[in-house]
Amino acid sequence: MKACYPGTFDPLTNGHMDIIERAAKIADELIVAIMVNPDKKVLFSVLERIEMIKESVSHLSNVSVVAAEGLTVDLCRRLGASVLIRGIRAVMDYEYELQQSTANMMLDDTIESIFLIATPELSFISSSVVKNLVLCGGDAEKFVPASVNRILKEKIHGNRSGF
Ligand code: COA
Repeated sequence: MKACYPGTFDPLTNGHMDIIERAAKIADELIVAIMVNPDKKVLFSVLERIEMIKESVSHLSNVSVVAAEGLTVDLCRRLGASVLIRGIRAVMDYEYELQQSTANMMLDDTIESIFLIATPELSFISSSVVKNLVLCGGDAEKFVPASVNRILKEKIHGNRSGF
């Protein structure tokens, strides 16, 4: 089974990695798809996010990374993926995911959504928390893969005069 894990990944966190590593055991092939969430203003360029995710998943032989615009279900059709993977941390994620996956179901009912419950120790992590922590001078090493932390520090400290 070919599965697609879409998200903004701005940046990828250990919460996302938990979902990727577990989904890679369920799917024959997992495609991590960097998509556009129109409600979010991003810090990292698409190229930076591709680099961060590629480095972080290099130990997983059945995981690849793509970036696309448009609808996630259209990308799934183009890639031949029949399953959409999403992670759920808490009830607030459930309500949002219910809306998204119902919309996706209305758009294409041949693509099934599968939800993985976040590992409890990682359920508080979000990309926003990570960005805020680093902007306030903290180190995100416990929350993101090493390659992400490196690029995160370069990005935020390199532009520090802007804050
Ligand atoms: N599970 C879920 N979310 C987790 C998580 C976990 N285990 N661990 C951490 N999170 C956090 C993320 O860090 C992120 O935090 P943030 O809100 O502070 O940025 C948030 O939960 C979820 O972000 P992410 O997983 O990166 O993706 P998203 O919710 O922004 O992605 C898209 C949404 C891109 C999948 C969706 O907008 C989309 O499909 N866009 C294309 C257009 C489309 O087809 N829309 C649907 C039909 S209308």
